Amino acid sequence: MSTTTPRVALVTGGSGGIGRVVAERLAGDGLAVAVQYAGNRARAEETVAAITAAGGRALAVGGDVADETAMSAAFDAVGSAFGGVDVVVNTAGIMILAPVATFDLDDLDRMHRTNIRGTFVVAQQAARNLRPGGAIVNFSTSVVRTQLPAYGAYVASKAAVEGLTLVLARELRGRDITVNAVAPGPTATPLFLDGKDDAAVADFARATPLERLGRPEDIAEVVSFLAGPARWVNGQVLYANGGLA
Ligand SMILES: NC(=O)c1ccc[n+]([C@@H]2O[C@H](COP(=O)([O-])OP(=O)(O)OC[C@H]3O[C@@H](n4cnc5c(N)ncnc54)[C@H](OP(=O)(O)O)[C@@H]3O)[C@@H](O)[C@H]2O)c1
Repeated sequence: MSTTTPRVALVTGGSGGIGRVVAERLAGDGLAVAVQYAGNRARAEETVAAITAAGGRALAVGGDVADETAMSAAFDAVGSAFGGVDVVVNTAGIMILAPVATFDLDDLDRMHRTNIRGTFVVAQQAARNLRPGGAIVNFSTSVVRTQLPAYGAYVASKAAVEGLTLVLARELRGRDITVNAVAPGPTATPLFLDGKDDAAVADFARATPLERLGRPEDIAEVVSFLAGPARWVNGQVLYANGGLA
């Protein structure tokens, strides 16, 4: 890791609940940050403005993570603006819940296109472009272990992300690039909160020994560690969920 050249991060889903806070945290750590968005440009621009106002460097880049042409262009844009890419954080993702027996297969394809293909396309760009000293942080979910009913299609997509993460860490032998995944538990963002009533949210909060939901800041702390000082953590899935079993 160079001590003179600022490191550069690309955060997919930077317009989302966790992604925004991750982008701000990495900027606070001293990285220049590309805030990637799909539909919500205004929120990505807000995040860029907040980072810039705090004295950091940021830009917004758009595009569907599953579109390889768009993601190649995004990496090029970040390289032109900041000189290269060191850290890629893949927070972009969607969650659609229903029992396997009734799951709509168009929803299955849509979710897996974003969660699996999208993570893969961005990881592929990262594998081609990241500088030595770099880090890739993918996003799984603690439901891979808690195995709640109705989460089957979502868990299938995130288990695939975990598998990709573990293999890519070994493929990048000799490059000085770490590849890990974070598996959050219930975290207070639209992805988790939408469609749940207060009682359901309270049940999820009580399920952890720490008796609260995760906050995006809790997850950003873990990403900051994996993206920066944690050079000896490689090929791991870090479950960040307040002790949820
Ligand atoms: N919140 C939780 O409880 C929780 C728990 C475990 C794991 N996770 C995982 O954590 C990650 C972040 O979740 P979150 O809670 O921050 O969700 P969120 O607030 O709903 O944000 C989702 C983000 O993904 C982006 N996105 C969706 N489809 C995309 C596509 N095709 N191309 C590019 N970007 C796309 C959205 O961009 P636009 O808004 O610009 O369209 C948005 O920025 C996800 O991978 C999720 O599965 C979340």
